[in-house]
Amino acid sequence: MTNNEDKTMTVKIFDTPEVQDFLNIVAGFDQAGGSQRAKQIMHRLLSDLYKLIDDFDVTEEEYWSTVSLLNALGHDTQFGLLSPGLGFDHYLDMRQDAIDAEAKRTGGTPRTIEGPLYVAGAPEAEGFARMDDGSDPEAEVMWLTGQVRDVDGTPIAGAKVEIWHCNSKGNYSFFDPTQSEYNMRRSIYADGEGRYTARSIIPSGYGVPEGAPTDVVLKALGRHGERPAHIHYFVSAPEHQHLTTQINLAGDPYTFDDFAFATREELVVPAKRIEDPAEIAKRELDGPFAEVVFDIDLTRTDAAELQHRHKRPRAKETEAQESQLAGSAKV
Ligand SMILES: [Fe+2]
Repeated sequence: MTNNEDKTMTVKIFDTPEVQDFLNIVAGFDQAGGSQRAKQIMHRLLSDLYKLIDDFDVTEEEYWSTVSLLNALGHDTQFGLLSPGLGFDHYLDMRQDAIDAEAKRTGGTPRTIEGPLYVAGAPEAEGFARMDDGSDPEAEVMWLTGQVRDVDGTPIAGAKVEIWHCNSKGNYSFFDPTQSEYNMRRSIYADGEGRYTARSIIPSGYGVPEGAPTDVVLKALGRHGERPAHIHYFVSAPEHQHLTTQINLAGDPYTFDDFAFATREELVVPAKRIEDPAEIAKRELDGPFAEVVFDIDLTRTDAAELQHRHKRPRAKETEAQESQLAGSAKV
C-alpha cells in the first residue's frame, strides 16, 4: 500500500442515492432467495468498505494490491494466522467473557485463543502421558502437571485435558510432516484427584514466516509477528463449561508481547528448573528438567452446548475435513 494520506480528498459519492441503491442491489435485497442474515451482514460490510474507500480516497493501485494480498493469504491458508494477528480471536474471547460475566459464570481459569493447529483424535491416557517421541534429545525435558477443579476448589476426577504444543523448532506435528503422528498431542483424563501429568519437552516460541502475506500486513502496521513459547489446552468435564486456553511460559522475550494477543496475566506460568537428584529419580528421568504447573478451574453449567468446544473447521475433526480447511499457518 502506498502512502496516500497527504492527498487532498475531494470526491465523495458514498451518500448519493445512486451508490446507496447500488449497495442494496449488490447485497441482494431485491432478490427473494438467499439468506436475510447474509444480506444484512454483507450490506453492512460493503457499506463500511465503500465508505472507507471514499473517506481515505483509496487508489486503484491500493485496492488491487490488497486483492492480490488476500489471494496470497488464501493460497497460503494464512487467514487463520492473520485473524489472531488482527485481534479477531481475542476480540471473540472478550465477547465470550462478557457473555459469561452476564450469566454469572465467573471465577474459572481464563479462556484464550485456540489457534488453527489443533488435530482431533490424539492418543488418550489416564492420569499420565508421555507426549514427545524422544526424537528431540537436545530439547529440555518438561514435566507438565496440574489439578482440574471446580471454581469452589473441588477436584474434578476424570476431567479431559487435551494438550498440544510445538517442538523446539516451533513446529507442530501433522502440519510438520517430518514429525511422528500426534507428536506432542495427547488427551489425558485426570485421575481421582483431578490431577494430570505429562512428560514432554519445552516448546519454543516462533514467528510468522518472513515475507509471508501475514508478515506483509504486520510490517505495514509496524508490528512484529512473534509468539512466546506456549502450550494449548482444551479442558472439559460433564456439568462444566468447556475451556479453550493456553499457557505462555514466563521469561520469554514475547511473553507479554504476543502478536496473537493470547497472553493473559493468569496464564503466564514459570518453567522451574529442577536439579534435585531425588526429584529426577522420582520421575525416572536422566537429568535436570523443567517443571511447569498449571491448575485449571472450570465453571459450572447445566447448558449442554457450553460443555463442548464450539464448532469450527479443525484438522481430522471429521473424516471429511482436511488440513486445508483448518489452515496450516502456525499460531
Ligand atoms: Fe500455537
